[in-house]
Amino acid sequence: IHNVIFDSSLEASILVAKEIANLIHRKEELNEPCVLGLATGSSPIKVYEELVRMHKEEGLSFKNVITFNLDEYYPMDKDNIQSYHYFMHDHLFDHVDISPEHINIPDGTVSFEELRQSCIDYEMKIKSYGGLDFQLLGIGRTGHIGFNEPGSHINSGTRSITLDHITRIDAAPSFLGIDNVPRKAITMGIGTVRSAKRIVLLAWGISKAEILKKTIEGDVTSQVPATYLQEHNNTTFVLDSEASSELT
Ligand code: F6R
Repeated sequence: IHNVIFDSSLEASILVAKEIANLIHRKEELNEPCVLGLATGSSPIKVYEELVRMHKEEGLSFKNVITFNLDEYYPMDKDNIQSYHYFMHDHLFDHVDISPEHINIPDGTVSFEELRQSCIDYEMKIKSYGGLDFQLLGIGRTGHIGFNEPGSHINSGTRSITLDHITRIDAAPSFLGIDNVPRKAITMGIGTVRSAKRIVLLAWGISKAEILKKTIEGDVTSQVPATYLQEHNNTTFVLDSEASSELT
């Protein structure tokens, strides 16, 4: 892992958005699709804001972009404002020229009987594009990436998982109480994420400092799934000074 530390998350986010825009341009010149793995949550919001600005003011086009989101709550309706489907449209997709058929988000509306197959289909669809060119990540206080909670296997693929209690506590305010937070989610696996050619993990604020120390300086362990990124050769952690404050 390579770390870069910024004074402000805004400055950092603008740089990450630039890297994504450069990749989109490069792929466009090659006449190849640009396959992006995307995250929700508070961490990537300013990256999406900057990408939208570049689309509106600098003509950055998403015509050749294919996206795969990391995760979705299960069960979850698409029009629920807590859904990651809603989040992505609200923060990015509704404001750029991406084709709706190029947007992929795990489907929180499938029946329990269809769930397993829909996860396999999601994984196969990513593979059909030759894998992810770029994966954007946040990190949870449990050390989850996507919703790969402690105990996740290094080779795991897209699947349904049970959310960790800490993750549900952290989601409780936006759901107006922990009882409203779903107990399950669908997530890309650690194997799915690690097959990306390039990974950028964003973490801002003091609440992430402790888990980042474990993730970056600790031993690789399934108890902190983000430590698996230590074994990926093209990962950068983009941090603000608070998030990096426990690093030695
Ligand atoms: C979201 C996701 C999660 C979040 C993580 C951090 O798609 O996969 O792993 O990245 O929970 O969330 P924030 O950014 O809200 O602190």
